[in-house]
Amino acid sequence: MSSATPADPQKKRVQRRRHYLMCKPTHFEVVYAINPWMDPEKPVDTATAVLQWEGLRDLYLELGHTVDLIEPIVGLPDMVYAANGATVVDGKVLGASFRNTERQAEGTAYLDWFRENGYTERHDPRYVNEGEGDFLVTETFVLAGYGFRSDERSHQEAQAFFGRPVISLELVDPRYYHLDTALAVLDGDEIMYHPEAFAPGSRAVLRTLFPDAVEVTAADAAVFGLNAVSDGLNVVLPEAATGLAEQLRARGFNPIGADLSELLKGGGSVKCCTLEIRH
Ligand code: ARG
Repeated sequence: MSSATPADPQKKRVQRRRHYLMCKPTHFEVVYAINPWMDPEKPVDTATAVLQWEGLRDLYLELGHTVDLIEPIVGLPDMVYAANGATVVDGKVLGASFRNTERQAEGTAYLDWFRENGYTERHDPRYVNEGEGDFLVTETFVLAGYGFRSDERSHQEAQAFFGRPVISLELVDPRYYHLDTALAVLDGDEIMYHPEAFAPGSRAVLRTLFPDAVEVTAADAAVFGLNAVSDGLNVVLPEAATGLAEQLRARGFNPIGADLSELLKGGGSVKCCTLEIRH
């Protein structure tokens, strides 16, 4: 486990090249509401969503990462939130099973992509789990959210499949309905999170396991600052999370602000659009 001193600007941060899967928001719109951020009455500019998403993809490529693409499907407007499509650890693919009927077809679409691209170790989910929306992978653990979307029983399913200790964390604030809206992995076993998004017991667990975590304010959480993607050095996060960017800089990270305002209308940002493929 990491025992880095909390705010050591001298700590040398090292980037590791990553492999991501993304889905262009060609068919993105908000026509149903399954989280408090979504309002079908509010207009969405799909062309702007595409431009913002392309900015994120280009940024990953500039940083030296590999980005694979899955073909967007008409009628699945939330498919852009690729993080929900699966969880991949050690090349093993745990398929997703969505709570809401509106998104159910995405589970098969993503598993098909992994089959077609040669990932032979795949697991068809028995219980509801919304991929990396609720499963976040640190060096030692799989952190697993429940309370709004993923079924708690999917946590044991993930532990059995991956052979990694899964830590269940209860989410209590409907704005932070997925774990990846309340917590992000920075590097190794170093994380950042918004304590108030978790039930008291889960908060205590986080404090015990990650005493050096970055604690994120209500203001930065409310602009989706925790929906971030780190490569160990660069942390891509919503640009409005300025206080958090400062905290990260003080720790030696390189925060990079991204504008994904159109995709926020669906209740997602940087991390939601990014599924990491771990080999
Ligand atoms: N509209 C989508 C939903 O509510 C947003 C998903 C955001 N994805 C995420 N990884 N948090 O399911």
